[in-house]
Amino acid sequence: MTGIICGTGSYAPSYVMDNNEIAAMVDTSDEWIKERTGVATRHIIKGETTVSMACEAARRALLDSGVRAEEVELIIVSTISSNVILPCTACEVQRELGAENATCFDMSAACSGFVLAYNTALAYLSGGIYRTVLIIGSESLSNLTNWKDRSTCILFGDGAGAAVMKAGEGRAYLPVTCSDGGKGKALTCLSRHTPVESAHMNDPEYYMQMDGQAVFKFAVKKVPEAVNEVLRKNHVSKEEITWYVLHQANSRIVESVAKRLEEPIEKFPMNLQEYGNTSSASIAILLDEMKRDGRLKNGQKIVIAGFGAGLTWGASVMEWG
Ligand code: UT7
Repeated sequence: MTGIICGTGSYAPSYVMDNNEIAAMVDTSDEWIKERTGVATRHIIKGETTVSMACEAARRALLDSGVRAEEVELIIVSTISSNVILPCTACEVQRELGAENATCFDMSAACSGFVLAYNTALAYLSGGIYRTVLIIGSESLSNLTNWKDRSTCILFGDGAGAAVMKAGEGRAYLPVTCSDGGKGKALTCLSRHTPVESAHMNDPEYYMQMDGQAVFKFAVKKVPEAVNEVLRKNHVSKEEITWYVLHQANSRIVESVAKRLEEPIEKFPMNLQEYGNTSSASIAILLDEMKRDGRLKNGQKIVIAGFGAGLTWGASVMEWG
């Protein structure tokens, strides 16, 4: 028994902020941002919330899968930008969707969040505990962004992605998951909820702060290691993998991972040009785009890999459809 993704959905706010708009706020340029990160635009909330985006992505995933909200037995939302501390985002999504039979909880693992939500759902499905699970990554990172800090505000965007998973016959691949709390200071944010309390509005520690170079070096070393390990563990060869769907943080990270794995860059789809880094939503949004434009086909083997604050990282293999 395993868990199979049978529907995907995503949502991005309609407001699109380009690099020139950021260059009007901080000392940067469209050229610098594109060259160092690959990002050209990002979607930014104007009235949407982490819950509303999660709900829209989830509704689209349910429609795509043909599963009714009442059939969902578990909802996992991965987010670092919930609207409130209590209740959790997953319970708010349950209420809005009318998924009255679901058990709901949030996960906080930043940019590794979708991979860990997938693994958690897989464990519940493979173990026979649930048959239908909804996993969502939803982020309003613009609320946590210091719009005066050019080293971080260029990177992030808002959005949500969701997948419906069902129990089914097939192989349950083993994941690779890792954490290194000792290096947690590389990427921090003291704010617990949004909007940031006015008392802390001018305190940079209450927004995301990052040692960009440290995170970059960590990612380009640890992600290829995790991918190689997950393939080795599952006796899957690189030739069998059609797609490596990586967390969308920086095109140079994706390119470097491809090079270290000695795999063609064509196997590494990217949409960070449009969305920027949407943390736990990024992999889910990309999977949904690939499903909708026909790149994902039944039987393809795919690796998903996340990395980010914590530090956390990991990779999983899945068979599509
Ligand atoms: O989601 C997971 C977590 N996040 C990541 O994966 C991000 C990982 N890190 C990165 O993507 C990159 O480190 C950044 C894009 C954040 C920065 O790129 P970099 O090539 O590592 O730049 P840097 O920090 O080494 O800075 C190089 C120069 C510095 O100037 P000096 O000291 O050489 O004069 C910075 O002050 O670029 C300057 N700089 C900028 N210049 C124009 C930093 N940010 C900017 C900017 N515009 N926005």
